[in-house]
Amino acid sequence: MCWEPFVLAAPDQKVPFPKPMSHTEGLGDRLRIAAFAELQAVRAFGWAAEHFRDVSMEVINGWERQIPEEKLHFRLIMERMNNLGIQPHQKPVSAQLSETLYQCQTGKAFAIEIATAEHRGRLAALKMAAYLENRDPVTARVFLRIARDEVAHVQLVIDHFGWTPGPSPADL
Ligand SMILES: [Fe+2]
Ligand SMILES: [Fe+2]
Repeated sequence: MCWEPFVLAAPDQKVPFPKPMSHTEGLGDRLRIAAFAELQAVRAFGWAAEHFRDVSMEVINGWERQIPEEKLHFRLIMERMNNLGIQPHQKPVSAQLSETLYQCQTGKAFAIEIATAEHRGRLAALKMAAYLENRDPVTARVFLRIARDEVAHVQLVIDHFGWTPGPSPADL
């Protein structure tokens, strides 16, 4: 799969850990990772909606409805990166999320796997928004918008599969 303009880490290459937010690079690292997660979500939901027939039409329709929102999230982050002069290809990213998602054998397993990632992403977005509130309100608003939309994405899986997000990891 082509992930341009992102560059995937080679199988034997470690993905660089994002720099702390106190570094200028830190924000860029997080925006890059977030943008790539949104792009993976766009493709994964499209794939799942075509691939899985062991879940209700409500779930499939829910996945399809989420695609334009994930596309919007991707575009909002990419535009912000562009305005800040952050290049998507500057550092390699990991496609571990996609690798895990495409290995799911059932729609339910897929739904729970992606909801876990979305929940984690939502908490990270809220944390970023709080940190950036006074430092970079424009980027903070992007993260807040995304965090707001992800509530419904996660709720779909709570409603249909009885899944519940675990406790928030303290190290987000
Ligand atoms: Fe998203
Ligand atoms: Fe989402």
